[in-house]
Amino acid sequence: MIYDFETVLDRRDLGSAKWKEMEGKNPKLEKGIVPLSVADMEFKHPAKLIDGIKKFLDRDFLGYGLPNRSYYEAVISFMEEEHNFPIEKDWIINTPGVVPAIFNAIRTLTNIGDGVIIMPPVYHPFSFAIERQNRKLVRCPLINKEGHYEIDFNLFENLAKDPANKILLFCSPHNPVGRVWTKEELARLAEIIKANDLFLLSDEIHFDLIMPGFSHTVFQTIDEDLADRTITMTAPTKTFNLAGLSVSNIIIKNKALREKFTSGLDGISLKTTSSIAYKACEIAYNECRDWLRECIEVIDENQRYVHKFFKERHPRIKANLIEGTYLDWIDFRALEMDPRNLEDFMTEKAKLFLDEGYIFGVEGEGFERINLAAPRSVIIDAMDRLDMALDNLEK
Ligand SMILES: Cc1ncc(COP(=O)(O)O)c(C=O)c1O
Repeated sequence: MIYDFETVLDRRDLGSAKWKEMEGKNPKLEKGIVPLSVADMEFKHPAKLIDGIKKFLDRDFLGYGLPNRSYYEAVISFMEEEHNFPIEKDWIINTPGVVPAIFNAIRTLTNIGDGVIIMPPVYHPFSFAIERQNRKLVRCPLINKEGHYEIDFNLFENLAKDPANKILLFCSPHNPVGRVWTKEELARLAEIIKANDLFLLSDEIHFDLIMPGFSHTVFQTIDEDLADRTITMTAPTKTFNLAGLSVSNIIIKNKALREKFTSGLDGISLKTTSSIAYKACEIAYNECRDWLRECIEVIDENQRYVHKFFKERHPRIKANLIEGTYLDWIDFRALEMDPRNLEDFMTEKAKLFLDEGYIFGVEGEGFERINLAAPRSVIIDAMDRLDMALDNLEK
């Protein structure tokens, strides 16, 4: 390894949302416990990224920003080289995040009361974007086949046929279940989307975080007709741990769709203005891909450690290997605790600060989402605390 994935950082006093949430849950928590919740990484950034941002700061510009030519070049090359996804400059729209882009797309493409289909358990802000804007949440739950999640195509087709349903809001790779959808699965979905005249909002924020042996297909590359009805949501923020910089690249090929989306942003004056954020994305995409390769190796080793831990020490708890993202999805239903008791057990007995499965929908009850993007020693400590807590429970 060239890069440092081992240093344990203390982000208690930095205003980190993840660390503050942990502190909120247990203000008297001893030092040395690292939260494994919110999808921020606990790794050091590559020096190239921090040094590049410092160099930019030395030029003394903190005014309103717009993307430069070099920014667009970086994004276009990254999409082409890393994802086989050829795009044009005009297709790229910047928003301060993928979640605001989802809210904006739903608001601009549907009317109050229209249906938006999601596949729970799924990233919880999906339901906020639908329900808080008075649209109808239409659920097409994934099928859990002994820990391997699959799409319920029959149900999806039935839901798609209802003319009240206008959008599929899709997560690819899927947070929290860690699936990387195959080309065949995407092609089958695409047929149903096109046949029923749906829009596709494809949240691909985790698309760079693919475990060895799997490969991600950008959904809209499946075919041209599909691309014309798709908004692909990407960002460097999960990949390079830049969430606090609020920068994302929303890719819309169809001009009319793009204009609708943009006029929605203008309508609420939602603009990205941080020149530092653009610079950070540019440096990450141009110069930090080797860091990313190592990062994926570390995440994969961490998940294998966790998988082995449960298999050997507590086999009734199921930790399947994920295919993508850095978020492990662990089935604690064998403990037969209700979701609040499970949460208390984690925070009070195991001193583990995770994301509770129930926030992703009722299908997540009894599950915990564990962030694997942390130094190995942090993962080992976490599993040791859990081991003790589970042993005490079984006594
Ligand atoms: C699927 C998914 N979409 C979006 C986001 C966050 O998007 P943003 O911070 O760009 O609004 C996350 C964060 O974890 C996520 O997992």
